[in-house]
Amino acid sequence: MNASGGPPDPSPRDDDPIAGGREPRKVIPTDYDRNPARFRLARAVLRRFASGEDVHGLVARRLLAERLIPVLDVGCGEGELAQHLPSDAWVSLDSSREMLARSPEPRVQAEATALPFRGDSFGSVALLYVKGALNRFSADQVS
Ligand SMILES: C[S@@+](CC[C@H](N)C(=O)[O-])C[C@H]1O[C@@H](n2cnc3c(N)ncnc32)[C@H](O)[C@@H]1O
Repeated sequence: MNASGGPPDPSPRDDDPIAGGREPRKVIPTDYDRNPARFRLARAVLRRFASGEDVHGLVARRLLAERLIPVLDVGCGEGELAQHLPSDAWVSLDSSREMLARSPEPRVQAEATALPFRGDSFGSVALLYVKGALNRFSADQVS
C-alpha cells in the first residue's frame, strides 16, 4: 500500500543510490559451476554455527502438512530440501550442472526464468536462497 492507499509502486526511488539509476546495478555472475567449493564451505559453516533451525526442514514440514506436493525446487543447489522430503514429493531444478550433479533425482537443468513445465504441474514451487541470483530479472520474467 502506498500513501494514497493504492498498491506499492515497484519502480526504483530516485534517492536510492543503487536502484535509482545514479550507479548502475552491478550484476555479480554466479560461480556455482566454476567454484562449487565456495557454496559448500558456506553451507558447512552454516551447519556448524547457525543458532536456529535450518530453514529447509521447516519449509519441508509445512509443504507436507499442507499437501503442497510435489514440490519443484528451483535453484535446488545440491538438494538440501530433498533431505527433508519423501523421494516422490520433489523435483530438482537448477541452471548449474555442477550443483545439479550432486542433487538427488529427478533433476532438470533449466533457467528459473523459463521453467519447462506447465503451470499446474506441481503442488508448490520452492526458491530457497535463490532470489539474490534472480535480482537481475524482473518478476514478470519468472514464469
Ligand atoms: C545459494 S544456492 C541455494 C541452493 C538451495 N536452494 C539451498 O537452499 O541449499 C543458489 C542456487 O540457485 C541456482 N541458480 C542461480 N540462478 C539460477 C537461475 N537463474 N536458474 C536456476 N537456478 C539458478 C544456483 O546454481 C545455486 O545452485
